[in-house]
Amino acid sequence: MKTNIPNSLFIRNRANLMACLPEKSVAVFTANEPMPRNGDQFYPFRQQSDFFYLTGIDAENAFLILSPNNPTEQYREVLFIEPYDEVKATWQGEMMDNKQAKEISGIETVKSSDEFYAVLNDIALTGCDTIFMNTYEYPKYECNVETIQQRFVKKIKELYPLHQFGRTAPILNELRMIKSKEEFDITQDACNITAKAFRRCLETVKPNRYEYQIQAEIEYIFKLNNASGHAYAPIVAGGKNGCCLHYSKNDDILNDGDLLLFDIGCEYKNYSSDLSRTIPVNGKFTERQKECYSAVLRVMKEITKLYKVGGTINEINQTTYRLMEQEMIKLGLFTAEDVAKQDPDHPLYRKYLMHGMSHHIGLDVHDSVDKYKPFQPGMILTCEPGIYIREEGIGIRIENDLLITEGEPVNLFEGLPIEIEEIEAAMR
Ligand code: GLY
Ligand code: MN
Ligand code: MN
Repeated sequence: MKTNIPNSLFIRNRANLMACLPEKSVAVFTANEPMPRNGDQFYPFRQQSDFFYLTGIDAENAFLILSPNNPTEQYREVLFIEPYDEVKATWQGEMMDNKQAKEISGIETVKSSDEFYAVLNDIALTGCDTIFMNTYEYPKYECNVETIQQRFVKKIKELYPLHQFGRTAPILNELRMIKSKEEFDITQDACNITAKAFRRCLETVKPNRYEYQIQAEIEYIFKLNNASGHAYAPIVAGGKNGCCLHYSKNDDILNDGDLLLFDIGCEYKNYSSDLSRTIPVNGKFTERQKECYSAVLRVMKEITKLYKVGGTINEINQTTYRLMEQEMIKLGLFTAEDVAKQDPDHPLYRKYLMHGMSHHIGLDVHDSVDKYKPFQPGMILTCEPGIYIREEGIGIRIENDLLITEGEPVNLFEGLPIEIEEIEAAMR
């Protein structure tokens, strides 16, 4: 999918990063590689997010060198792309040329990736003390497969064992948390497409359809509206499946009288959207479902007020737990006396609400983070309270994406049915 993002975004992103690099340093980056699946087959290519953030280049076998203080001007920003290959072009289609790469990225010096190590040598061995490298730094990330970024770090360290090394991840994580106008606009477009997909679900969900058939409706709308696909494994979970936080089989039948929990988001121009809604399969909430849904929605409205400058994810989580505990008492899940006696390390609400309420979104759905950082204008975060009552087969999550501003947060899903009456009306 061509992204057609103005290269002003990537030019500014590189300038912001380079402003943070010390004298006598160079930063090097590699693109992602295709992930093999089996003979002649690969998983769909997805660019490494930082590489995309700095270049806009959505192709494999590419490198970037940033050497802001280099005396040779054309070495300050150098992009390397895969050289033209007749066989590859025949089998896989048109390849990007240097002129296109320059237009996409705004980088003047574009060379063949075959030249990368020679150019780096010239830069690294002439007045450069520190090589900055990029690895994916996300606190909860575990990966048993050695990525191209990890192999790249090993190789560069072998080539330059006596240089100092630095990490670009902390700098990029900080920069990526604040979205520019271009990024906000793309994210809003992504949310609009996801909203359309949810509206289609409101019209097409009914008892005895299968979860994957509803997923097909979503995927149809995503592609029809130029999204590349899902930003994460979609959750289309009927009844008790909604209580499974990472349910993604989506292969069950939808039963009359059950709820249906969606957690879906398209990826558009490599940016994520992240939406949760919970609806009744037959178009009408039962009284009990209404009580539980209203509890979550009330709390959501309260905590949305905390998405303001200076707020924190921790404050949102703690407030939600406190409010939901009261709602759970009203729902009869436990009593105030039970709470007074509970083990503070294992509070009773945890049985029915076991996740955090917010994360940054951006090029990654759980975007690069400093989860302690107080909110600033330009951050986009989710707001996603829920309740999961396994013994009743009731799983409810409601999720919006919110832009932090100097004033009230902007809801990127503004106008999308969320009230019980709105959902029932749309399903009639
Ligand atoms: N869709 C992933 C999440 O809501 O965090
Ligand atoms: Mn979600
Ligand atoms: Mn989310």
